[in-house]
Amino acid sequence: MLRFFLSYCWLALLFILSGCTEVKTYRIGVSQCSEDDWRMKLNDEINREIMFHEDAEVEIRSANDNSAKQIDDIRYFVSHGFDIIIVSPNEATTLTPVIREVYGNGMPVVIFDRNINDNTYTARIGVDDEGIGRSAATYARNLAGDNAKAIEIGGLEGSTPAYGRHKGFASEFESLGGTLLASVAADWNKEDAIRVADSLLKLYPEVNLIYAHNDRMAIGASETVRRLGRDDIKIIGIDAAPEIGIQAVADTLIDATFLYPTEGHRIIQTALAILKGKPYNRETILPASSAVDLSNADILLLQNETLKEETCKMRLLKARIDDYWAQHSSQTSLFYASIAIIILLFGVGFLLLRAYWQRSRHQKELMTQNRLLGEERDKQALLNSQLQEATQSKLMFFTNVSHDLRTPLTLISEPVARLASADNLTPHQHTLMKIADKNVRILQRLINQILDFRKYENGRLELRLSEVDFSRSVSDWMESFHTIARERDMKLSLVCSPADTPMPAAIDVEKIERVFFNLLSNALKHTPDNGSITVSIEYDAQNIVLKVADTGEGISERDIGNIFDRFYQADRIHPRGSGIGLSLAKAFVELHGGIITVESALRKGSVFTVVLPVRHVAESAVDTEKRIDHDSVNSELGRIECEADTTVDSGKPIVLIIDDNRDIQRLIGELLNDDYNILTASNGKDGVAKAARYVPDLVICDVMMPVMDGMECCRRIKNEITTSHIPVLMLTACSMDEQRAQGYESGADGYLSKPFDSHVLKARCANLISCRKRIKELWLTTSPHHNAGKDSDGRPQTESGASVTTPSDIDNEFYNRFLTIFKEEMGNADLNVDAIASMMGLERSQFYRKIKALTNYAPVELIRRLRLQRGRMLLTTTDKTISEIAYEIGFSNPAYFTKCYREAYGETPTAARNRLTGPTS
Ligand code: FRU
Repeated sequence: MLRFFLSYCWLALLFILSGCTEVKTYRIGVSQCSEDDWRMKLNDEINREIMFHEDAEVEIRSANDNSAKQIDDIRYFVSHGFDIIIVSPNEATTLTPVIREVYGNGMPVVIFDRNINDNTYTARIGVDDEGIGRSAATYARNLAGDNAKAIEIGGLEGSTPAYGRHKGFASEFESLGGTLLASVAADWNKEDAIRVADSLLKLYPEVNLIYAHNDRMAIGASETVRRLGRDDIKIIGIDAAPEIGIQAVADTLIDATFLYPTEGHRIIQTALAILKGKPYNRETILPASSAVDLSNADILLLQNETLKEETCKMRLLKARIDDYWAQHSSQTSLFYASIAIIILLFGVGFLLLRAYWQRSRHQKELMTQNRLLGEERDKQALLNSQLQEATQSKLMFFTNVSHDLRTPLTLISEPVARLASADNLTPHQHTLMKIADKNVRILQRLINQILDFRKYENGRLELRLSEVDFSRSVSDWMESFHTIARERDMKLSLVCSPADTPMPAAIDVEKIERVFFNLLSNALKHTPDNGSITVSIEYDAQNIVLKVADTGEGISERDIGNIFDRFYQADRIHPRGSGIGLSLAKAFVELHGGIITVESALRKGSVFTVVLPVRHVAESAVDTEKRIDHDSVNSELGRIECEADTTVDSGKPIVLIIDDNRDIQRLIGELLNDDYNILTASNGKDGVAKAARYVPDLVICDVMMPVMDGMECCRRIKNEITTSHIPVLMLTACSMDEQRAQGYESGADGYLSKPFDSHVLKARCANLISCRKRIKELWLTTSPHHNAGKDSDGRPQTESGASVTTPSDIDNEFYNRFLTIFKEEMGNADLNVDAIASMMGLERSQFYRKIKALTNYAPVELIRRLRLQRGRMLLTTTDKTISEIAYEIGFSNPAYFTKCYREAYGETPTAARNRLTGPTS
C-alpha cells in the first residue's frame, strides 16, 4: 500500500515538473546559401521575429556558397524532425531536385530570396530582381549622362537574382540610350569583382559607369577604379545593407545602391501561418525600391543605428523576460514540487499514522489474547492441580482399599486354595473352586502391584540388590511357564549370549523376577496357541540385555507410545488387565538404572527389551529365594481343565456360550451343565459359525470380544435364516443403558450384567427358552398371520397371557415361503422333505432344524399336519367326497387319509363332516 502510494506521488511530481518546462511546438529550419552583411541583416530580422513566438524555435544553417553543403543542410532538417524548411537556394538547377523531393514527401518548404526552376514549394517570398535591374538602369543613365557607357559585374551564374538583375538592367539601359559594353560574373564577392573590373577597364577605357549586382562587388570595383585613377567613373551597387552598402555611399566609395529588401519577419510569419493552418500568400514578390545615394544615406545610417540600438534593447528586454520567465518557471516548478512534497508528506504521515494505529490495535489485541491465554493457563493449572489432587486422593483411596482388601483376600485365598485341592469334590465343584482360586491369585497380584506402584511413586520403593547368575535366574523363572506353553503347543525357548557362561550381576531379584513374570505372562496371553516365545539374554561387562519376543497379535502404532504409561490399556474395547503391570515393570527397571522398550508390528508380534547396567555387590547378599512357582503360574495362566460332561443328552436344550474369557465360559458352563447341553466359542466369528452348525436353543454372548464383538455376532445370528429364531442373551461387564439399547437393536432377546447371580442367569435362560417354546406353539397355526393367541397389540401371548417376542420378519418370510411352496405342491403325493428343502435353498439338515425350531415338528410331521388341517377345512366347507379331498391334499390312498385323520382329530373324516355340518337329510 505504502509502496503504491509513493510511486504514485513520484509520478505526480514528475508530471508537475515536466509541466513547468517550456515545450516548443514548432521547429523551423532556415538554410542560407551564403553568409554576408545582407544575410546577417536578414538573420537578425528572423531572430527578432522568433522572439515574439514562444511556441516556435529556429535554427539557421549557412552553406557558404556551396550547393552540396546546402543539400546536406536540407537533409539535416528533414532527418532531425523540423516542421518546416525555409531555403534560399544557392543555384537553382542544383537545388531544385532535393527541394522537390522534400516537398513531395510532405514537408512544407518556403523559398525566399533566390528561386528554383519549378514551383515545388509551399510558398515563396522573392524580390522583383528585374525591376531592381531596371531601376538601376534608369538611375545609371541619369548619372552617366547621354554618353553613358557601362560595364556590368554580375552575381553567381545560375542564381536567379543574377539573371533577373542583368535582364532588367540590360534591356532598360539600352532602351534609354546607354551602352552596355560588357557583362561578366564575379560570383557575388569583392575579390572577383576587383579582378573583373581591372580587366574590363583595360579592355574598355571609355567606360563611365560600373553596375555591380551587389554592394561588395561595387566596393571592389571602386577600389580598382581608384587605383587606376579613374575617378570619373560612376559606380552603383545593390543591397543597401547599412554597414556595407549605405556606409560606402556615405563614404563616397560608390555613388548609389538599391535596397534589396530582407523582410525576415515576413518569412517567419509565413512559415508559422503554414504550420498553424492559417492563411498565407503562396507567392510574395517584394517591389524594387528607390536608390540610396548621398542625399539619404546619412538618414538611413542614422535610422539603422537607432534600429540597432532598439534591437539591442529588445534583446536585453528579451533576455530579461527570459530570465524572469526562467525564474517564474523554476518558481512554478518549486511551487508545484512543494505541493507534491506536501501531499507526499501528508500521505506518508497518514500511512505512518495508520500503521501506528494498526500496530497499537494489534498490540491491544495481542495483549487481550495474552491475558486470555494467561487466564486460560491459570485455569488449566488450577484444573491440573485439582486433577492432580483428585488423582492423588483417588490413588490414596485405591491404596487404602487395596490395603483393606489384602487381609480378607488372604483369608479367602487360603481356604479357597485348600478347598480347590480337596479330594472329596465332584468334578464340577472342583472346576468351580479352581476358577475361584485362580482369580483370587490374580486379585492378590493386582493389589500387590497397586501397592508397589504407590510406593514407587512416593519414592519409598527400595532396591535390595543381591548377586545372582542372571541367566540361571531367568532359566529358573521360565521353568514354571513350560507346562502352560506345552499345553498350548507353544514354543518357549531361552537363548543366552555368551552361551553356557555365568552372568554375574547384582539385581533386586524380587523386582526383576516380577518384571520377567509380567513380560512373559503378557506374551503368553497375547500369543495364540502354536505360537512361539523367545527369551534372549545378551551379557557383557556393562549391560545385560533381556528380550522377550513373541509371535502374538502385536501392538498398534497408536498404543505403542503409551504402553508403559500408568494404567494405560492398549485395548480399551477388550481390556486384558488393569494396565498397571507394564508401568510397574518400567518402574522396577528404572529403579535399577535400566531402560525398558518395546518394538511391535500388528499381527506379527512384539519384542520387549530390558537393558540393565551390570553391577556387583558382596557375595553374602546372594538371593536364592524362588518366588515364581509352578503353582502360581499355572493357576494364573493355565487353563482350568474341567471334567467335561461330554455326554450329550438329546432331551436337554443346547446353549452356546460365546465369550473370550475361558474362565467365564467354564463358569457358565458349570452353572448350566445340569440342565443344558453346553457349546462354547471364544469370539463372535467362531460363535456365528457354531450357531449355524448346531442351531442351539439359546446363545449367551459376551459384548466385548476380539475378532467380532457381541453386537455384530448377535446381528449375524438374527439375520441368518438358520439361526434367526434362536434367542440371544447378551452378557457384559458394562451395564450402561446405551449399551443395552445397542444390544436390543442388534436383535438381542435379553441382557445380563456381569457380575451375575447364578440363579438369575439360570432363570433368564429358562425363561428365554420357554418363551421360544410358546412361539413354537403359535407357529402351529397354519398361517403366521393367524390372530389367535395375540394380545391387543398383536403380540403373541403365552398360555399365562404374558407377551413374548414375536417371530422375526426373517422367520415370517421363511415360513410364508414354505407355506406357498407347500400349498402349490400339496396335491403331490410324492412330495418329500428333500424337495422342499432344495426349493427353499437349504440343506436338508438345516431345513429340518429350522422347521423343528420354529414349529416343534419335524418337516414330515408338519406337512402331514398341514394336509390334515386343509382336509378338515374342505370337509366342513365343501361337498367334495372323502376320496376327492384325500387326493387333493396329497394322500395317495383315501383309507390312509382316514387313518391319519382319526389319529390327529380322534374321529373319522365322515364323522367329523356329520358332526360339524349336521346330519344330511
Ligand atoms: C548575398 C547576395 C546579395 C545579393 C543576393 C542575391 O549572397 O549576393 O549581395 O543581393 O545575394 O541573392
